[in-house]
Amino acid sequence: MIKIAPSILSADFANLERDIQRIAGADYVHVDVMDGMFVPNITIGIPVVAAIRKVTELPLDVHLMIVEPVRYVEQFCDAGADLVTVHVEADTPENIRAALEKIHAKGKRAGIVLKPGTPAEAALEYLDMVDLVLVMTVEPGFGGQKFMEDMMPKVAALRRFIDARGSDCELEVDGGVAPDTCRTCIDAGADVLVAGSAIYKAADIPGRIAQLRG
Ligand code: DX5
Ligand code: ZN
Repeated sequence: MIKIAPSILSADFANLERDIQRIAGADYVHVDVMDGMFVPNITIGIPVVAAIRKVTELPLDVHLMIVEPVRYVEQFCDAGADLVTVHVEADTPENIRAALEKIHAKGKRAGIVLKPGTPAEAALEYLDMVDLVLVMTVEPGFGGQKFMEDMMPKVAALRRFIDARGSDCELEVDGGVAPDTCRTCIDAGADVLVAGSAIYKAADIPGRIAQLRG
């Protein structure tokens, strides 16, 4: 079954516990961490991840949009992240590998993220050491942007790379996922869909989560 990871970037931060309970039927809580350097926006950090950890049993999928993520991955693991993803564009390949190793050494799942301009092939050197690959279908930085349909060949290419290895690595898509765009992501081979505005703007959140599963 397709997994759904609601992005709390679209939640009401003054009512975060309530808005996390509202997505209890989902598979992951997607937490967007931005540093104002890797992306032109600043969101939430380690203390908020620790606070969220206390109010949900759902796995926390922490998407780090920060430069040199190797500096902070252990702290996010200690704060309660279950899966930590780092952008391949955020540092040298050596440091990205070091970040993935640190996440695994903490007993957590590790993933890489590709910005829209980064080709599928950039994932190849990391595929044997990741539990998830995340393909951005918007430029990272903000919720509520338009879905980039032209990323679907990249999702399909990654599906082929993962299947060719016989790997159980998950393939996640993030950005503009909504009832009218989820099907194309699933058809391209995605098995985890992140959605922020499409879930939190819905009148019936459990119904919307079910709808996004395709
Ligand atoms: C964007 C974030 C996304 C964002 C998705 O940089 O990584 O997770 O919250 O929001 P929607 O689903 O509204 O595009
Ligand atoms: Zn995200």
